[in-house]
Amino acid sequence: MKVAGRPTRTIWPVSDGSGDVEILDQTRIPHEVVTVRLRTLDDAARAIADMQVRGAPLIGVAAAYGVCLGLREDASDEGLERAYDRLLAARPTAVNLAWALKEMIATVRNRPRAERLPVAYARAAELAEADVATCEAIGEHGARLIAGHAARKAGRVDVLTHCNAGWLAAVDWGTALAPVYKAHRAGVDLHVWVDETRPRNQGASLTAFELGQEGVPHTIIADNTGGHLMQHGQVDFCIVGSDRTTRTGDVCNKIGTYLKALAARDNGVPFYAALPSSTVDWSLTDGVAQIPIEERSPEEVTRMTGRTASGEVVSIDIGAPGSPAANYAFDVTPARLVSGIITERGVCTADEAALAALFPEHRPANSISR
Ligand code: MRU
Repeated sequence: MKVAGRPTRTIWPVSDGSGDVEILDQTRIPHEVVTVRLRTLDDAARAIADMQVRGAPLIGVAAAYGVCLGLREDASDEGLERAYDRLLAARPTAVNLAWALKEMIATVRNRPRAERLPVAYARAAELAEADVATCEAIGEHGARLIAGHAARKAGRVDVLTHCNAGWLAAVDWGTALAPVYKAHRAGVDLHVWVDETRPRNQGASLTAFELGQEGVPHTIIADNTGGHLMQHGQVDFCIVGSDRTTRTGDVCNKIGTYLKALAARDNGVPFYAALPSSTVDWSLTDGVAQIPIEERSPEEVTRMTGRTASGEVVSIDIGAPGSPAANYAFDVTPARLVSGIITERGVCTADEAALAALFPEHRPANSISR
């Protein structure tokens, strides 16, 4: 997608032969667009933990390149294990991280040390390209849903999204926003309600930035606004991303997603999750009970960062001094509240049979095939 009219991705290997990797620093957007060079395993793990790169698909690809940087320092089995453990611990909820690390280990482990590094870089690049293709396919499938809705409504389609599940959360295109971009480029008249997404404001800062750069009409709203808009017929449907989805269709996503799904159900608004199959944790059946929810620093709740009128980017305290805060980063929307899941292979209902029909290679070995 574009920044200042130029096609841009979120992560890429530097083309100077150094083996370093560059990222867009997402902690600086929308106030500045700057890149950061990752040189070491520690750089990669820190970039993920501090959310310079974030969003489930991007975390996976960043971890894959992190393995490359780790192997540059130590290509032994111990070095590989150290990279795996360090990167896996960076963020606990998005399963794409573990998925990408397993892909990298499987590629590298049985190779002689001398071969490991080039093979690792090649595999990381493949994962990045596959992510782009997967997100684009999600976009095509989701855009058909949006276009169908536009045709039935014969007017502007209002989409509500939460957090940032756009191209900044992936390598390119994004998940929840890929259908929006595809539909917009196809000429569908649409508008996006952008939940600000406290406490880190990924909606107000990242989603709004992306949509603005692509010229997609949008409006930032406070997180608590969606229910009101839905009651007044101002939301045609919701599309969110996911950090981990169970094989039964429970969707874990940014904190606050569940409340939007409840409001959507109460108002008959379709609620879709758009996700690559690498986000499905095929071992899980109960999202609320089984998905680990990341708890981040309370300071993210009590402090806010923004730009002053003079252009300086500053952080300020907004909480009562001394009051404790809690910062749960994700919640789980049970499958019963999800109207459909938009994947790279098509759209299905949020249940085990439908997901298994789209991805039969993940069907549990002992289940009866249909
Ligand atoms: O904490 P973040 O910013 O990494 O959380 C991101 C989200 O919750 C996204 O909605 C999710 O990763 C889906 S992304 C394509």
